[in-house]
Amino acid sequence: MPKKDKDGEDVKPVESDNLSDDGLNEVDLVLEKLTELPGVGEATATKLVEYGFTTYESLAVANANELSAITGLPQTLAQKIISSARAQLKFTIKTAYELEQELKDVRRITTGSLNFNKLLGGGVETKAVTEFFGEFGTGKSQLAFQLSVNVQLPPEKGGLQGTTLFIDTEGTFVPTRIRSMAEAQGLNPENALQNVYWIRAINSDHQIAIVEGAKDFVQKHGVRLIAVDSVTSLFRSEYPGRENLASRQQKLNLHLHSLLRLAEIYNLAVVVTNQVMATPDMFYGDPTRAVGGNIIGHTPNNRVYLRKSKGQKRIARLVDSSYLEPGEVVFEITTQGIRDPQE
Ligand SMILES: Nc1ncnc2c1ncn2[C@@H]1O[C@H](COP(=O)(O)OP(=O)(O)O)[C@@H](O)[C@H]1O
Ligand SMILES: [Mg+2]
Repeated sequence: MPKKDKDGEDVKPVESDNLSDDGLNEVDLVLEKLTELPGVGEATATKLVEYGFTTYESLAVANANELSAITGLPQTLAQKIISSARAQLKFTIKTAYELEQELKDVRRITTGSLNFNKLLGGGVETKAVTEFFGEFGTGKSQLAFQLSVNVQLPPEKGGLQGTTLFIDTEGTFVPTRIRSMAEAQGLNPENALQNVYWIRAINSDHQIAIVEGAKDFVQKHGVRLIAVDSVTSLFRSEYPGRENLASRQQKLNLHLHSLLRLAEIYNLAVVVTNQVMATPDMFYGDPTRAVGGNIIGHTPNNRVYLRKSKGQKRIARLVDSSYLEPGEVVFEITTQGIRDPQE
């Protein structure tokens, strides 16, 4: 039965699919929290939730123009809401020492290639979002599969003994590939397949809702890797062209922000893929900068640009890292999975 607000209007629930048993309660909580902001009544709160603004953080990082364009709220109200969200957020001041202590929890998942690991400072890190971007066939999905297997390994073998939540937006997930990669790593293939939770996102709102609703699932099932393959394709097809660029980027930024929050809270790794168009509709200058925009906005992140080399060899280039040295390495896609080149 659809929920009604005070005025008898339908309240659109944030659907959490199978990931959470109490989706409706969560929506109530979100609405309650939002209406605590000065200037936000139930109707406005409902509208904000409908467009994916479910946390103070998501509002605090928005800008008034975009918020107004996306939700249809007047710009003055949008500005007021953003300001109240910023005021509500207690920006925590920490010492550098405390921050260093927190970062000591960061763990790494092996990619299967020592070269690649080295490029990433030891592997794909937790508490961060790592983006693999490149053209079709450059190995983005293969990397996501490999990491879904490797996260299950014990720490001494480069894993976290965790499970994966795999959000598939293109229908390109291949279970038999998980099986062969697991066998090659000496894992029981049936167990390895059981440890990868797969969900197909059917549109961008669904994709957003899956992540918004994933909290309990992540905790309950020991998820240490969330893979979104691809993070951009649904947004691209639903918000085509330059005229939709601002709202598309805004939605993507919020989505990545929720992913990053999960990464930080549960000390897990987030890996997203982003396909570069060969004949892009919006593509200017250096592909490592322009493709899909800097989709992760201001969130700390690692971006890896992938391109083809000879045969099954691929080149990975780290771009825009906040603390790692930029560089390039070669790896190979083999029947066993991601490896260093053999010759
Ligand atoms: N079972 C396999 N054994 C060896 N190579 C594979 C296997 N499956 C896929 N590949 C290779 O992976 C590449 C495609 O990578 P993929 O990750 O699907 O690209 P994308 O970047 O488009 O996601 C192809 O070069 C393909 O040959
Ligand atoms: Mg792919």
